Amino acid sequence: MTTSFIYRYLPGEQAETLLLLHGTGGNENDLLEIGRAVLPGAGLLSPRGRVLENGMPRFFRRLSEGVFDVEDVKARAAELGQFVREMAVEHQFDPARVMPLGYSNGANIAAAMLLMGAARFPRAVLIRPMVPLEPESAPDLTGCEVLLARGLYDPLATAEQTARLRELLEADGATVTEHASRSSHQMVQADIEAAATWLARQ
Ligand code: MLT
Repeated sequence: MTTSFIYRYLPGEQAETLLLLHGTGGNENDLLEIGRAVLPGAGLLSPRGRVLENGMPRFFRRLSEGVFDVEDVKARAAELGQFVREMAVEHQFDPARVMPLGYSNGANIAAAMLLMGAARFPRAVLIRPMVPLEPESAPDLTGCEVLLARGLYDPLATAEQTARLRELLEADGATVTEHASRSSHQMVQADIEAAATWLARQ
């Protein structure tokens, strides 16, 4: 299978590659600057979601706000995992050193990839994630570190959603760190700073 996403790839000077995953209505350009800011020197791989909702790109279908098409989530997470592997061959980066940084819908597809074992990531930054699916099987996420960045006043990615996602990830062996910003669903500077600090740890 060859997957085709519209994407940007900016090579880095380091072995790490950030997989940048935009929110609903975004595109492959949205997170490039943030990617550069949080991990200077990393390569950047930034696909555009292939699902269109009223013309707005997303990474999977939803039935209504916060109600996801779980079969589509599964298929799209697998497809994105395949895309990353193909890009690693094409652009010659190490697939074992790819780390997603996703916002909102992008955080949700990254969470789905983790929970389904669609790709192995050493670290993942999920900004305003929800629970994209309740997985049927448990991948081994031992050694995987995840930052969950929530907004204290977020009506979508609520504290309960974050807590459930944390529980699922930890049950699979991941190490989870939480950060809470004084914001709603919108990403703010404090999220970017928290991600940069967290990624800079050895
Ligand atoms: C969004 O607006 O993108 C939602 O909050 C998250 C999603 O639908 O995946």
